[in-house]
Amino acid sequence: MIGPRIGTEESDGIPRAMPNRFKFAHFPYLADALQQEMSQSRQGLRILDVGCGPGDLAAFCRPIEKCQWIGIDLWYRQLQQAKEKGVYEYVLQGNLLEGLPFRNESIDVVICSEVLMYLPNVPYMLAEFCRVMRTGGKLFVYNAISYYPRLASVLKRWGRQIYHESGSIAFNGSADWRKASRPTRISYYSFNGLISEIALLNFHIVHVTGFRIFRNRIRFLNRLEKYPWYGRMTECLTTRYPQISSELMVVARKGEARSDETS
Ligand SMILES: C[S@@+](CC[C@H](N)C(=O)[O-])C[C@H]1O[C@@H](n2cnc3c(N)ncnc32)[C@H](O)[C@@H]1O
Repeated sequence: MIGPRIGTEESDGIPRAMPNRFKFAHFPYLADALQQEMSQSRQGLRILDVGCGPGDLAAFCRPIEKCQWIGIDLWYRQLQQAKEKGVYEYVLQGNLLEGLPFRNESIDVVICSEVLMYLPNVPYMLAEFCRVMRTGGKLFVYNAISYYPRLASVLKRWGRQIYHESGSIAFNGSADWRKASRPTRISYYSFNGLISEIALLNFHIVHVTGFRIFRNRIRFLNRLEKYPWYGRMTECLTTRYPQISSELMVVARKGEARSDETS
């Protein structure tokens, strides 16, 4: 099993050094997982990076060969940055709320890193991931979790005043997103809530692991992140007890079509 790795060493050609090791702790994890998928694939991987943002993850995974990255995001400025990284086969601007503009079973891997929390229609989104993925393909969902997801969501909305940000499409999927400056809706899941939401679809959960412990809980403790011992302790605890982490990676494999779907 692959566990989270926070470090700066280089092995298998993947650079580990990141500017903020905890924020990007899931990047080496994903790079390792993609490398493993690659080793089992004959013709390479078609990877869909939903809500790709500035494309940091794809750039980090650049050394992995035969990967065809496709990025989709709502935010034009971020897409420009993603394009400039030169890793994506192509990027496109689109609102995930309107579905994915890809054919059925045309994607090997879907990566949804820190995006689900911005979407109001998660079950629909997961169904879209399932539709575009080939059978046996892998889904990686990385998302914030909380012990008290409703309370955390309310506090976050209140703290950031996101209803009032100009150009926000917060909570209003029908707003004209092309005029939105940035999407700002945020909602949290509980540990079990996130896993069971994914498992409702035709996905088999193959791995669950955690990363940071305190990100959304006790902010001042984030200062501990500069100490190596804290990194090692966090890694050890969140791998063993992912339910205590503030960010969760859920890895799922798309199963054979269910009989009720094919009929
Ligand atoms: C926190 S960033 C994550 C970026 C990247 N996936 C990463 O892990 O570094 C969230 C991204 O989701 C995008 N996003 C949020 N809601 C979206 C929507 N409805 N349609 C398309 N993209 C959306 C945002 O524009 C933003 O780039």
